[in-house]
Amino acid sequence: MALITLRQLLDHASQNGYGMPAFNITNLETMQAVMEAADKTNSPVLLQASRTARNYMGDKFLQHMFMAAAETYPHLPVCMHLDHGNELDTCMSAMDMGFTSVMMDGSLEADAKTPSEYDYNVAETSSVVEVAHTRGISVEGELGVLGSLETGMGEKEDGHGFEGMLARNQLLTDPDEACDFVAATGVDALAVACGTSHGAYKFSKRPNGDILAMNVIEQIHEKLPHTHLVMHGASTVPQYLQDLINQHGGDIPQTFGVPLEEVERGIKCGVRKINIDTDIRMALSGSMREFLLNNRSSFDLRAIIKPGRKRVVELCAKRNELFGCAGMADKIKPLSLSQMADRYAAGIFRSKAA
Ligand code: G3H
Ligand code: 13P
Ligand code: ZN
Repeated sequence: MALITLRQLLDHASQNGYGMPAFNITNLETMQAVMEAADKTNSPVLLQASRTARNYMGDKFLQHMFMAAAETYPHLPVCMHLDHGNELDTCMSAMDMGFTSVMMDGSLEADAKTPSEYDYNVAETSSVVEVAHTRGISVEGELGVLGSLETGMGEKEDGHGFEGMLARNQLLTDPDEACDFVAATGVDALAVACGTSHGAYKFSKRPNGDILAMNVIEQIHEKLPHTHLVMHGASTVPQYLQDLINQHGGDIPQTFGVPLEEVERGIKCGVRKINIDTDIRMALSGSMREFLLNNRSSFDLRAIIKPGRKRVVELCAKRNELFGCAGMADKIKPLSLSQMADRYAAGIFRSKAA
């Protein structure tokens, strides 16, 4: 079993100029598919689970699934990351169940809806960093609120995120504030706001620089060249998956995700973690729709889910290839949490981050 921390993984990605897709897992099949894709492409693995996913699966099942994934593929470094932790307690319970990395999303208050004050974000994130680093566990923070630069709206979808209008400066991470935030908190990775949002409805047209502000990422990278940046809401929402869903009984209005070229551009300027959930959901559910429509008498769950799992393997393998982490798994020797804790205690990472 080769568990790895986010910090070590992203340091390797940075040293070798690649990006890590962070795949959200929501059930057994999505986890199996991500692992199979990593195995096929010799890629390290960054699995993440949201609070909603933890509730859906139950922590005990999830914990055993994580361990089973790592044990089944002992040659692959596997990072277990908590996505959008909302407060210290949530992060603590994830650390206690074996996550090697947690996100403390202090851009919103603990209700995961209300945009927070900067000082609140620093205080909450710092309290998580303090505990996590003594245990060798990594922390991702977030500065700036995700939402649409097209409409100015927060990104409430699936029950979380802010609902309502935001000012443009709230929707874009300020590069100077990012420097202060990283220095004040000591986070290992920083999620930034640049016009992406969660879910399928990111842009009403193919995004240009006005509504997907890659220049903000470039400015942040210039000021913080050693900080690992994270792009949330990075699904591409590909046309073929919209068609798959719509041609088999679905009804998704035309929408646009983050073009892969923009993600590649991000990787060139410090984006090391690229969060992908929606594309996986679309691939799996679209395939299920297709199978069910073509096999109206079938109710064998295995037959219904299998084509979708295969499609998710293909999608994830393609992302691994494109982002450059394919071929990297056997080049990494994971450090244990106690080795990481010693490094934090020696101040090695803090001086590099700021
Ligand atoms: O944060 C957004 C991720 O896509 C997770 O979504 O909370 O519905 O699992 P979720
Ligand atoms: P998508 O909804 O674009 O897949 O983003 C997922 C994400 O950012 C999870 O934190
Ligand atoms: Zn996210």
